[in-house]
Amino acid sequence: MSFDSRYSEYVRIVESTLADFLAHSPAEHLLEPVRYALTSGGKRIRPVLVMLCCGAAGGNPVDARWAAITVEMLHNFTLVHDDIMDKADKRRGRDSVHVKWNEDTAILAGDAIIPLACLAMLKTESHSRLDEMLAAVSNGIIEVCEGQALDLKFERSKNVSIPEYTRMIELKTARMLVMGARLGALAADADTRTMDLLCDFASKVGIAFQIQDDILDIAAESTVTGKRRGGDVIEGKKTFLVLRALENVHGEADRALLQRFIDQHGLPAEEVDAMYDLFVRTGALRDAEQAVAALTDEARRDLEDLPPSEYVDLLRAYAAMLLNREF
Ligand code: IPE
Ligand code: IPE
Ligand code: MG
Ligand code: MG
Ligand code: MG
Repeated sequence: MSFDSRYSEYVRIVESTLADFLAHSPAEHLLEPVRYALTSGGKRIRPVLVMLCCGAAGGNPVDARWAAITVEMLHNFTLVHDDIMDKADKRRGRDSVHVKWNEDTAILAGDAIIPLACLAMLKTESHSRLDEMLAAVSNGIIEVCEGQALDLKFERSKNVSIPEYTRMIELKTARMLVMGARLGALAADADTRTMDLLCDFASKVGIAFQIQDDILDIAAESTVTGKRRGGDVIEGKKTFLVLRALENVHGEADRALLQRFIDQHGLPAEEVDAMYDLFVRTGALRDAEQAVAALTDEARRDLEDLPPSEYVDLLRAYAAMLLNREF
């Protein structure tokens, strides 16, 4: 079976598991915004990772379907709150939850998703390692929140290094994928070495995923990403592009533009195109693309130490799919 058809098959399982769960969900009044957040056309890359990791660890991927929706739900909780913090009005081509309802409702809907995700995980049929699963979920949420806090702190910092940025995205983005890999491995009752290899793979893929997200934020059209183009420039985010441009910049005009971006904690929407041109001119965009490709290669190398299987091959294809994504 090709990677694409396997991906579609797993997405179908994820959608039906989620629909089943929401149909019996207890958060009554908040269910409408919760449902809106959870069923608005996300790519579902994290739940598919959970299922593939379960398979690669020797389990049946379908047994990981509850863990898969757990991670997808937690991802969506972070997005609902992220859009408030990033003042982002659009997500997946629609109004963000805090725009369609209001901020208070979005905060509460995000809050409610966390315990709902835990309840979904409890539906896992084989309970033998549930304590480790709960620890993985709890630690993962703390790490993502820590990363998001650093992301906000860096908006105001004048000196952020690329290693500090990398640590921040490892927490805010990669740890959610690592949680997914861990849950998938636990659902397969994996040994420590297998789990570590899968988590390392997920971490590298996750770091690459966020650098790619930084690129797409400015290089792709909002009709394709479903998000406002240039949101990171407007919000003053210290992305890979900004930090590399600061290292590479020469020429007074470019230096002045970057300095204004730093001093004013972002630039108005009219200056997004100028920043894009600067990212191209300084080679920051090219360097970011190279970093994504190099990390993806490294991630794929982790897979060589796993026992060969169709699932390991699918994980290889999964990494390639993320590398080539357009939104
Ligand atoms: C967006 O994640 C948030 C990041 C961590 C960069 P996705 O690009 O996976 O979002 P959806 O779920 O497919 O919309
Ligand atoms: C990832 O960063 C956010 C989370 C960890 C939730 P971004 O703020 O760049 O994500 P998008 O671009 O809004 O999806
Ligand atoms: Mg953000
Ligand atoms: Mg955001
Ligand atoms: Mg982004």
